[in-house]
Amino acid sequence: MRCNDPVARVRIWDGSTPWLIFRYEDQRAALSDPRISADVSRPGFPHHSEAAACRSKGPRSFIAMDRSEHSVHRRMLTRDFTVKRVKSLRPRIQQIVDGLIDDILARPQPADLVENFAVPLPTLVICEILGVAYADRGFFHARANAVMSTTAGAEAAIAASAALRSYLGDLVEAKNADPADDLLSKLAVDQLRTGILTRADIADIAMLLLIGGQESTANMIALGTLTLLRHPDQLAELHDDPGLVDNAVEELLRYLNVTHHGLRRVAVEDVKLGGQLIKAGAARTASAPRKTPACATYPCTVSTPTGSGSKSPAWQQNSPPGCKTSPCTTTPPAAGNPNVYGYACSPLRHDWLVTPGKPASGSLPAGPTPG
Ligand code: HEM
Repeated sequence: MRCNDPVARVRIWDGSTPWLIFRYEDQRAALSDPRISADVSRPGFPHHSEAAACRSKGPRSFIAMDRSEHSVHRRMLTRDFTVKRVKSLRPRIQQIVDGLIDDILARPQPADLVENFAVPLPTLVICEILGVAYADRGFFHARANAVMSTTAGAEAAIAASAALRSYLGDLVEAKNADPADDLLSKLAVDQLRTGILTRADIADIAMLLLIGGQESTANMIALGTLTLLRHPDQLAELHDDPGLVDNAVEELLRYLNVTHHGLRRVAVEDVKLGGQLIKAGAARTASAPRKTPACATYPCTVSTPTGSGSKSPAWQQNSPPGCKTSPCTTTPPAAGNPNVYGYACSPLRHDWLVTPGKPASGSLPAGPTPG
């Protein structure tokens, strides 16, 4: 696809036919083009599930905002996520890592890496950054799982999202009344008290950070470990030369693409990408594909060359130059609809994801009362 049809139409769950962008250069162009929007509430946005489509009609955090609106919210967090600030967290994160490993060693063997390390590590870290009680993890993991699920019904996802937002809103008010040394207190004092943001705005930012902070990182830790175990020669190289760790992390991020829902966007004006004209507009019917405005880009298809002098790990050496394996699969265009490919993500890759918390279906644990 990258060579023959680098910007192709695919049919997704609701029958709509957004564009799938395969080449790195085209993805970069799309993501920095002001005519292409991240606003999930715009007509034609290629949502990953029915639940996501329903939730898009409610409140949204800045990940789903464009340009100036996005910048205003994002700037409020910049100081807390500078390279320097994040580096300053290292000693504490190392302490948490050491503690979790000590706990694993003290348990009967073998121990479950996901349950005892991959999930608790990012959860503990983001809880400390935000000022959320780690003891409440059963509650927020289950809700986050329902919010992110592609299979939970829309009703379950909306209810989980509302419960999480309400929990975080209460917490913001508690922080406002009695601020501590954490990010939610800072947002409460700087933004809520001054009337710049509402309780709901801050709860949305907190929800983005709480879910974003755990989910992707937990998946990377678990799947990165599994990938290295499946490539013992690469693991041995890392053991022999810990200086390779930074590069290995970068390569694992590219190889595993744990953000399986992809980077989704919608064109608000006509845009030409990779030789294809992507039309703006609201129609999303499979029968009128030329009017489909949606533009979906999937990081699993991004090809980024490794830095000069860096080694290409074995799992990349089997791929064409500059490419890597994609977890997403396309099926050839259907007869009668020659320009539209079927789109599916390999179930194996989805099975790999280690979403924290209980399954999205069934009853969720009761909510705590923050204070
Ligand atoms: C390995 C770990 C991670 C991966 C692979 C990852 C991946 C991503 C990706 C692909 C996006 C872009 C989504 C889009 O534009 O549609 C994103 C955005 C974001 N992530 Fe992460 N993330 C990781 C860790 C984290 C952590 C630890 C945090 C919080 C502390 C976080 C918070 C965010 C936020 C706030 C955004 C929105 C940024 C914006 O719109 O300006 N992520 N992440």
